[in-house]
Amino acid sequence: MSAPNKSYDPVEVEALKPEVIERMRDEALAAFATAGDLDALAHAKVAHTGGTSPLALANREIGALPPQAKAEAGKRVGQARGAVSKALAARQVELEIERDARVLVEEAVDVTLPYDRVPAGARHPLTTLSERIEDVFVAMGYEVAEGPEAEAEWFNFDALNIGPDHPARGEADTFFVEGAHSPRAGGSTGSGVVLRTHTSPVQIRSLLDREPPVYVICPGRVYRTDELDATHTPVFHQVELLAIDEGLTMADLKGTLDHMVQELFGGEGMKTRLRPNFFPFTEPSAEMDMVCYVCRGESVGNPDRPCRTCSSEGWIELGGCGMVNPKVLVACGVDPEKYSGFAFGFGIERMLMFRHNVEDMRDMVEGDVRFTRPFGMEI
Ligand code: DAH
Repeated sequence: MSAPNKSYDPVEVEALKPEVIERMRDEALAAFATAGDLDALAHAKVAHTGGTSPLALANREIGALPPQAKAEAGKRVGQARGAVSKALAARQVELEIERDARVLVEEAVDVTLPYDRVPAGARHPLTTLSERIEDVFVAMGYEVAEGPEAEAEWFNFDALNIGPDHPARGEADTFFVEGAHSPRAGGSTGSGVVLRTHTSPVQIRSLLDREPPVYVICPGRVYRTDELDATHTPVFHQVELLAIDEGLTMADLKGTLDHMVQELFGGEGMKTRLRPNFFPFTEPSAEMDMVCYVCRGESVGNPDRPCRTCSSEGWIELGGCGMVNPKVLVACGVDPEKYSGFAFGFGIERMLMFRHNVEDMRDMVEGDVRFTRPFGMEI
């Protein structure tokens, strides 16, 4: 910087000449105008208004001028700097507006785009039907109970009065979990564990776990050594029901079954009928049928109105039921003199087949969403 010098001629100070100041100002204005974004403008700002910018340096020269020249030069430099900072602020605002507009466009969310490339799956109708059945009984005060799929033979057979020689215990129907067959009749493996062949062992577990009265509904997966075809699958689902209380009779069983089919199939005239049968764990035992929910029995003896669902028989077979055999109660430590009860069990796949006209069981196990999706989302 020059030292004060009274005889200093301002005209001689190159940096303070009007045309030089004007050029500095114009260069600054041009730099701001051509700055394409806020980063470029930040650079131009340092270059043209920073401490080492030409105008800042010129400003410092003013101090060295003689007093009469200071005012004029100060005014010139001040005006130039004022114009530069005004232009800078204006360009800053302009570029911010541009940036905001660009961000809005670039980061816009197109709400019309599909939100996911992976198509949504669907709940399996076996799950929704099974939950529907549970709901009917939960509404009546029943508890949902579960048991293991790999089950002790004692629960699956013995406690249910299925003795060692019962044919259902043989290898023809049962998956044994491990080991070679012992020579014992009935095909025990020695591991004592099978894949449960029905949900009835949950009756036993429920009775051992609770004090009567007991009201449980037990849905679950069961296994039998069947080949997969249109009407069989080695893994399927059953729902088991058990009610144990004082004074329960077959009339209670019948009323409960009627209520269930009315809830599940709705409308007038839905009811069940019982046909004598045999199960080791119930006495007496029955096969239960329900009125065909499609023709409501009107196809019977009426060739003009044939019904595909029940083959014009008017009834659809549901499953097995009966009064719990006192031997089962004794095996679970329940006094048969004081308590009685009823039980039933049926297959969910079968119910799904006739409830929704599913013709091939394989569709239920293949996991293709084209099968599950049309059933919708029953909650
Ligand atoms: N457990 C039998 C089966 O798998 C079905 C069954 C029949 C269950 C009668 C019951 C019943 O609770 O009382 O074929």
